[in-house]
Amino acid sequence: MTPAPPAPVALPDLRGRTALITGASDGVGVEIARGLAAAGADLVLPVRSRPKGERAVAQLRASAPGGRIELRDLDLARLDSVAALAADLASERAPLDIVVLNAGIVLLGDRRRRESADGFELHFQTNFLGHFALTTALLPLLRARAARVVVQLSLAAGAARVAWGDLQSERRYAPLRAYAASKVALGLFGYELARRTSGDHGPLTVHLSHPGIVPGTGIAPALRERARDGRAAALAERWGNTPAAAAQPALLAAVTDAAPPCFFGPAGPFHLGGPAASQRPYRRLADPIAGSRLWTVAEGLLTGRAPAS
Ligand SMILES: NC(=O)c1ccc[n+]([C@@H]2O[C@H](COP(=O)([O-])OP(=O)(O)OC[C@H]3O[C@@H](n4cnc5c(N)ncnc54)[C@H](OP(=O)(O)O)[C@@H]3O)[C@@H](O)[C@H]2O)c1
Repeated sequence: MTPAPPAPVALPDLRGRTALITGASDGVGVEIARGLAAAGADLVLPVRSRPKGERAVAQLRASAPGGRIELRDLDLARLDSVAALAADLASERAPLDIVVLNAGIVLLGDRRRRESADGFELHFQTNFLGHFALTTALLPLLRARAARVVVQLSLAAGAARVAWGDLQSERRYAPLRAYAASKVALGLFGYELARRTSGDHGPLTVHLSHPGIVPGTGIAPALRERARDGRAAALAERWGNTPAAAAQPALLAAVTDAAPPCFFGPAGPFHLGGPAASQRPYRRLADPIAGSRLWTVAEGLLTGRAPAS
């Protein structure tokens, strides 16, 4: 028997708050957006595909007609696009109260290592470096509103190590390895951001989350195709989360009063699915020496890359 879907997180009244969610044109991101909109938040949804974004907005308006929803353009795999969004939001003094770094890719069907137009391995840039560039560019706005930042990781980040000599999988490439490496980098960034911007260092609150396994989203059609009659697919179907349930850890991270940084995920077996709950952080990601080193590496990679805006 399939387990009953977990109860959604009870969100406070978010009227008057604005939430920016990356990757809200599909999958878990739409459901994070739906949850925040239902609680009254206004939404800023940066998307790389306007038609997909418009379809998502139509769905969101149907379920939560009250709030304001704005689409913006963002391709995390293009630093000029990241810089343009950050510059627009800064020039408008956009009031950002919640930022959810949710967008992500995993190129499972493709054995070839791909690079972005900026010359970075595609998982590394889309999942990590683009989010790093966006968040650091938005820091003055985020500080001004004592904003909440939610960093969306993956189970894959718990099993992987940091390959310092090969952060962009130039020497050894496999899609899942590159995906895990990008999520490890994102996790190190999340914890380092928390150290640099909360407590005595500033007013931001940073929490991390992961959705478990979500067989119903667009991220892994190749995996679903390959694993249709395999045991992994059966396990994911049996214990994984629906997109709506998978949004709950990020929603909990967006509103919790718990002392930051917390890590939220599904509480079911192996954290594949189930209701959102706090879980033990992946120890390697919370390492301050590695976090600081990664931040320096990312700054170095971005130096001289972003166009003047
Ligand atoms: N599904 C799972 O089992 C699973 C497991 C662990 C973690 N996660 C994580 O959960 C998050 C959401 O994944 P999902 O399952 O909801 O996947 P999804 O349905 O494929 O959604 C991914 C979202 O990211 C956006 N995106 C991809 N590349 C982008 C880029 N270059 N610039 C801007 N946006 C981009 C996509 O936009 P388009 O609409 O343009 O494609 C889409 O809105 C990801 O961070 C993923 O790593 C998922």
